[in-house]
Amino acid sequence: MSDKLTATNTLRTTRIQSVKTENPTTKTYAFMDKQCAKAKPGQFLMLWIPKIDEIPLSIMNTEGKSVSVTVKNVGEATHALHRMKQGETIGVRGPFGNPFTPNNGNVLLIAGGTGIAPLLFLAKKLAIQAKHLSLIVGAKTRNELLFLNQLNPLCTEQSTATTEDGTYGLKCLATAPLEKILAKEKFDMVYACGPEPMARQVFNLTEKHAVPMEASLERLMRCGIGICGSCMIGKYRVCKDGPVFNSQQLREVTDELGISKLGFDGNRIPV
Ligand SMILES: Cc1cc2nc3c(=O)[nH]c(=O)nc-3n(C[C@H](O)[C@H](O)[C@H](O)COP(=O)(O)OP(=O)(O)OC[C@H]3O[C@@H](n4cnc5c(N)ncnc54)[C@H](O)[C@@H]3O)c2cc1C
Ligand code: FES
Repeated sequence: MSDKLTATNTLRTTRIQSVKTENPTTKTYAFMDKQCAKAKPGQFLMLWIPKIDEIPLSIMNTEGKSVSVTVKNVGEATHALHRMKQGETIGVRGPFGNPFTPNNGNVLLIAGGTGIAPLLFLAKKLAIQAKHLSLIVGAKTRNELLFLNQLNPLCTEQSTATTEDGTYGLKCLATAPLEKILAKEKFDMVYACGPEPMARQVFNLTEKHAVPMEASLERLMRCGIGICGSCMIGKYRVCKDGPVFNSQQLREVTDELGISKLGFDGNRIPV
């Protein structure tokens, strides 16, 4: 193991600096960690919840030595984390994985649900360098649309919100407006993060319109450093070769992307 990996992979304990409730199921946690504060948009960390579990989370922001993650309450570990308060101890490893590749041209970001967290981090960096920045954010319902107030000022072009139940913005999936926008305008890069069926559909559409894309994928993760094999997609390990994959890599995994993944027992299950 290289010295750099040994340093990022060493578990550090830190205290929760602040907890912000974003909506009834999602909270943002900030804590100090020198290593993860150096992360680039798209990288993730492994967060240890004492006595419960360790889970992968995208880095949502860094500021000085402070790091933020935005977490949806979906099961045992995230439920335990949601009960934790400012000052309590957590553990951190990372940052891990490959970040998004910054593009200076005409870029579009498309996010679903908590997938918006790493894309907000990316949008903040791109706002400084990209010529044109467009955004599509989708969620099931209005209160799950996160960070619109922070994202809208960063967009230089169109910003579209969608909800599945029509309580805000367009009543459709985020990929519906994407199809129309791609038919009209040429982009230098599309960045996607969200549920895998959404990533698959964004991949299909960008291939159709010959636009390069990068998508951040999620798989079951245990080690986070390419050893255990629980996060495989095709020949790739999502923790080490991803979580951000480009169009060329995604073309090699079309029989799995948005279709199936390995479950906790190692058997293949639907995504
Ligand atoms: C690279 C990466 C970045 C992620 N970023 C975020 C984020 O920014 N915000 C966020 O809310 N969630 C994020 N997730 C998902 C998050 O890791 C899971 O929601 C969490 O691990 C669920 O744990 P649990 O014990 O609460 O739920 P469980 O009861 O264990 O499972 C609930 C569901 O979560 C998924 N899941 C469970 N464990 C894992 C695991 N170790 N790795 C991946 N998926 C798992 C499974 O599909 C399962 O059906 C990310 C996952 C990955 C791989
Ligand atoms: S989580 Fe172990 S190889 Fe990716």
